[in-house]
Amino acid sequence: MEAAPTQALRVENIAKRFGALTALRDVNLHLNQGEVLGLIGDNGAGKSTLIKILSGFHKPDEGRILVEGEEVALRSVEHARQVGIDTVYQDLALVNELSVYHNMFLNREKIRWPLLNNRLMRRLAKQHLDDMGVNIQDVTVEVAKLSGGQRQAIAVARSVYSDARILLLDEPLAAMGAKEGTLILDLISDLKARGTVSIIIIAHNYAQVLQVCDRVNVLQHGEITFDKPTSQTSQQELTDLVVAEYRAGRAARAANNRRSNP
Ligand SMILES: Nc1ncnc2c1ncn2[C@@H]1O[C@H](COP(=O)(O)OP(=O)(O)OP(=O)(O)O)[C@@H](O)[C@H]1O
Ligand SMILES: [Mg+2]
Repeated sequence: MEAAPTQALRVENIAKRFGALTALRDVNLHLNQGEVLGLIGDNGAGKSTLIKILSGFHKPDEGRILVEGEEVALRSVEHARQVGIDTVYQDLALVNELSVYHNMFLNREKIRWPLLNNRLMRRLAKQHLDDMGVNIQDVTVEVAKLSGGQRQAIAVARSVYSDARILLLDEPLAAMGAKEGTLILDLISDLKARGTVSIIIIAHNYAQVLQVCDRVNVLQHGEITFDKPTSQTSQQELTDLVVAEYRAGRAARAANNRRSNP
């Protein structure tokens, strides 16, 4: 019998509390090698918190993380990068005062010892953005001068052209126009076709999730409540899941109000 392929990433029993608030109760999920996993759920469900744990930014209160079968205690974002995990955060994390190309090579600058190899970084930044179809004329301009969507494209490009084996993309399409959104989706499809990188992507647009992902997980009440291959679910089912929760909450609140104000 063939051995099961090692999972790129495995999360077991992760819990995270912020003071009295329990953001994650007991999260279990896995990411197969070369797979694109869509993670969806309400605003405030804990998706970004989970991503920040997997990127070494937050420490979990409980649970463990396995990268390619090995348990790791992620100490920092830098440490997560060293084990092959790179992240595009929802709240971006570009340095506004730096140029486009400095941002693209932040923490992995090209050096021509003892100096930065600015010329090479400028050329590569322009080339990567052109390859992605992102139109930024001048990569020496400060990112503060760019639009939200352009900034997002740079954050995505930076991760995609890192050597990461696991990419975590927290709403990479949120600020994108239709054209730029499609470019990012195409890029993710290209990466998937290469099969060397495994991706978790968070998005609220279920049509896009279904278009680009192999499998979908729903995060609700601090746990993964739903796990299906994309081929076995639909936009309707995903919408119903998330909306049903909202309706149930509303009905419960209305019943409560009736009880306290008869
Ligand atoms: N650093 C923090 N300190 C305190 N509470 C936090 C912190 N980060 C997140 N939270 C809380 O944890 C819960 C989950 O937040 P999180 O950002 O993970 O949600 P999300 O699923 O990413 O939502 P959205 O879809 O709106 O981005 C929220 O109630 C939020 O207020
Ligand atoms: Mg979020």
